[in-house]
Amino acid sequence: MTDIILATKNQNKVRELKRLFEPLGIRVHSLLEFETPEIIEDGKTFEENSLKKARTIFNFTGKPTIADDSGLIVEQLNGEPGVYSARYAYEGASDEENNKKLLEKLKKHPQPHFAKFYCAASYVDSNNSFTVSGELEGQIIETPRGSNGFGYDPLFLPEGYNRTLAQMTVEEKNKISHRAKAFAKLKEKLIDELKLL
Ligand code: IMP
Repeated sequence: MTDIILATKNQNKVRELKRLFEPLGIRVHSLLEFETPEIIEDGKTFEENSLKKARTIFNFTGKPTIADDSGLIVEQLNGEPGVYSARYAYEGASDEENNKKLLEKLKKHPQPHFAKFYCAASYVDSNNSFTVSGELEGQIIETPRGSNGFGYDPLFLPEGYNRTLAQMTVEEKNKISHRAKAFAKLKEKLIDELKLL
């Protein structure tokens, strides 16, 4: 295998996957290079969404494809925002609006607000199809801190740290993130079980 497609237009995800796969001589391509059909993320789980994305792009390009789907799971909110993380306040809402809604909802719950980030990552080629996951546990704080990262990062304090994800550098976050863990597992599976790399 010399080429893999990552079913995303997100440059940060592409950079992260390149760091893992390029030392093995594999080129990582993204959807910035292809005209692809729009994929409606209507699954009830992260797994359903990531597999749907990987399948759709594999069927379209014929090349081995990786996709991911991630979000925030808050214990006191029965798992919300979950698969609705990107559009928690409303379809097309900004990160600030989603964060505001989250804090509003948590007002009636006592601290600590335990939460985790969850990422499902899927791989599809003509013979194989599988999904793995990665998690990052922590808690939601009530005042945003830091300006790096995106999404709920300013409100998320990873377990064992006194800085939010938005107060960390990209390198620090990439060492502990749900997505980094899922991508690393996916790579291991391709190497150890499927002997594809
Ligand atoms: P995606 O599936 O990676 O596009 O993530 C969906 C949504 O989950 C994002 O729009 C964010 O709201 C949230 N999310 C996922 N990963 C992260 C993260 O690492 N930090 C902060 N928010 C995240």
